[in-house]
Amino acid sequence: MFLRTFVRVGIALLAGVRITCAVSVNLDTTEAGLINVQFKANASGIRYVKNSGICETTPNVTQISGYIDVGTNMSMWFWFFESRNSPETAPFTLWLNGGPGCSSIIGLFQENGPCLVHADRNSTTLNSYSWNNLSNMIYIDQPIGTGFSYGFNIVNSTDAAAPYVWTAFQVLFESQLFSKYASREFIFAAESYGGHYGPSFVTYFEEQNALIAGGAIDVVPIFVSALMINNGWFDPLTQMIAWLNFATYAPGYGQLQPDEVLKNMSDALYGSNGCIAQEKACYAAGNSTSSNKICQDADDYCIDNLYYPAVEGYDQNDLRQNSSALFLPEYYVDYLREKHVMKKIGAEVKYEECANAPMKQFAKTGDDARTWLPQLSALANSGMKILIWAGDADINCNWLGVHASVLAMDWYGNETLHNTPFTNMTINGTPVAAVQNVDNFSFARVYAAGHLLPAFQPQTALEIFSQVIRKEQLHSV
Ligand SMILES: *[C@@H]1O[C@H](CO)[C@@H](O)[C@H](O)[C@H]1NC(C)=O
Ligand SMILES: *[C@@H]1O[C@H](CO)[C@@H](O)[C@H](O)[C@H]1NC(C)=O
Ligand SMILES: *[C@@H]1O[C@H](CO)[C@@H](O)[C@H](O)[C@H]1NC(C)=O
Ligand SMILES: *[C@@H]1O[C@H](CO)[C@@H](O)[C@H](O)[C@H]1NC(C)=O
Ligand SMILES: *[C@@H]1O[C@H](CO)[C@@H](O)[C@H](O)[C@H]1NC(C)=O
Ligand SMILES: *[C@@H]1O[C@H](CO)[C@@H](O)[C@H](O)[C@H]1NC(C)=O
Ligand SMILES: *[C@@H]1O[C@H](CO)[C@@H](O)[C@H](O)[C@H]1NC(C)=O
Ligand SMILES: *[C@@H]1O[C@H](CO)[C@@H](O)[C@H](O)[C@H]1NC(C)=O
Ligand SMILES: *[C@@H]1O[C@H](CO)[C@@H](O)[C@H](O)[C@H]1NC(C)=O
Ligand SMILES: *[C@@H]1O[C@H](CO)[C@@H](O)[C@H](O)[C@H]1NC(C)=O
Ligand SMILES: *[C@@H]1O[C@H](CO)[C@@H](O)[C@H](O)[C@H]1NC(C)=O
Ligand SMILES: *[C@@H]1O[C@H](CO)[C@@H](O)[C@H](O)[C@H]1NC(C)=O
Repeated sequence: MFLRTFVRVGIALLAGVRITCAVSVNLDTTEAGLINVQFKANASGIRYVKNSGICETTPNVTQISGYIDVGTNMSMWFWFFESRNSPETAPFTLWLNGGPGCSSIIGLFQENGPCLVHADRNSTTLNSYSWNNLSNMIYIDQPIGTGFSYGFNIVNSTDAAAPYVWTAFQVLFESQLFSKYASREFIFAAESYGGHYGPSFVTYFEEQNALIAGGAIDVVPIFVSALMINNGWFDPLTQMIAWLNFATYAPGYGQLQPDEVLKNMSDALYGSNGCIAQEKACYAAGNSTSSNKICQDADDYCIDNLYYPAVEGYDQNDLRQNSSALFLPEYYVDYLREKHVMKKIGAEVKYEECANAPMKQFAKTGDDARTWLPQLSALANSGMKILIWAGDADINCNWLGVHASVLAMDWYGNETLHNTPFTNMTINGTPVAAVQNVDNFSFARVYAAGHLLPAFQPQTALEIFSQVIRKEQLHSV
């Protein structure tokens, strides 16, 4: 109901975007600016700093950070890095972390961004495996309230989040700062709750493209050319079952929990009002008002009775460490709270790595317990380049559950995928992942990596990213 209303209002209000003025001020080599985009749905422009000198210090590689106003009192943080190589032809990649409510700056500083923060929490070193070696990269903190984003937030579901991210790109591509990227290959890369965001947002972008093609609205189409999601949360019913399977036997690592715990988990899963029954009730309730509570209750029950027992004693995101694990150290959080850093990059509020407020909004609708597998299946069925990958030491969105989800997809390649054996992808002879390819669809189990996959296997992640960019099937090098 809300969504339909919003879309209709959006059409009327978003038509006729134009730039009214552009101001930029030179501060030594750094440049600060304000671009007003006459975007009538109160999405009014960009406040930015160009070349802050923070993080990306490679000579001549441009960066831009700041806020996109995606609505009245809705300031969405972005951080853009030009590609270190061939920036004029390289693709344009969006990176989103999950949560819901976790900042995409996690990816920037901990996973695939241009720099890493030292233990002094006040200086950085370049990351030679940064994804901006190959692509222009943009990291966005969404929904509002996440990371450095601030203001009014009403987003209480994955689908409700999509229009704001789409609007952010409308503002960016209508501005002269970013307009040249509107025609680049657009790669959508996400992690974790990105298993909800990715299928939902890309589907929404395509719906908007169809409206544009039909002449209903006159704005910038966003053609996603590849979707890549690691350690994603796609299909809760399948992935909750996998919590038990993974705790019983994590391939390569063994049994994680004692038999008594597994027995209790099994009872909680298969019992008459157990996790599976409750999840099925959630799916069956569709989008009805009563579905919110049914889904929320299912989520709570399954997390209490399956998730917590499965991760007990381990770091939930990396079973090779215990729960007091130190990798990854979070030096970057203190760095981003340094006044001099905030001032340089144009950040206006205290950084929150994973904020409670946006997450609580999603909890109201039981969003976590809902599935986005139908949307993912439809995208695969359309022939889109898709990579679903997972670090194999993650318990949370473990690879057994991710793989079972893709095997459950309803698409033309289903039968072939089921019949495709895993093969090892090697780098210089060393196995780095077990992979399956069916046309433009690939699955990869990446060895010895936790939830934040690129942080654990930066070389493998960059190589796989390069193969996706070139639209190749995953292969050894
Ligand atoms: C736009 O801003 C005006 C004035 O602040 C407000 O009255 C109106 O509700 C806003 N519209 C939307 C769609 O947010
Ligand atoms: C940076 O750009 C300047 C001006 O175009 C050029 O003179 C210089 O060689 C470039 N430096 C590097 C390291 O590419
Ligand atoms: C961090 O570094 C900046 C300059 O690089 C310096 O001014 C500041 O005092 C340092 N802060 C701490 C806590 O060391
Ligand atoms: C990434 O790019 C930088 C600068 O172009 C280069 O020095 C570095 O070797 C590249 N890293 C890899 C892994 O290719
Ligand atoms: C913006 O939104 C925040 C969060 O809802 C609220 O606290 C603040 O008062 C709002 N500011 C304005 C100017 O409306
Ligand atoms: C299993 O469940 C029973 C009944 O709820 C409980 O008494 C027991 O402590 C549980 N065992 C373990 C190992 O969690
Ligand atoms: C719920 O609504 C969304 C967005 O309108 C739609 O894509 C989805 O198919 C609906 N789900 C069900 C189970 O009806
Ligand atoms: C966790 O691992 C560290 C390092 O291996 C060890 O020192 C610590 O005792 C462990 N803590 C627990 C609760 O097992
Ligand atoms: C979610 O947000 C929409 C739009 O603001 C609202 O109509 C709906 O009641 C909210 N749902 C819940 C469960 O709060
Ligand atoms: C794979 O993607 C390419 C575009 O990158 C497209 O031309 C081709 O038709 C797709 N293949 C299938 C089987 O859909
Ligand atoms: C996919 O293929 C498997 C194996 O052939 C089959 O059991 C399953 O029903 C199929 N699923 C769908 C959604 O078509
Ligand atoms: C693939 O690599 C893994 C990890 O090194 C190894 O255990 C496995 O035997 C290899 N599989 C094949 C078919 O070579």
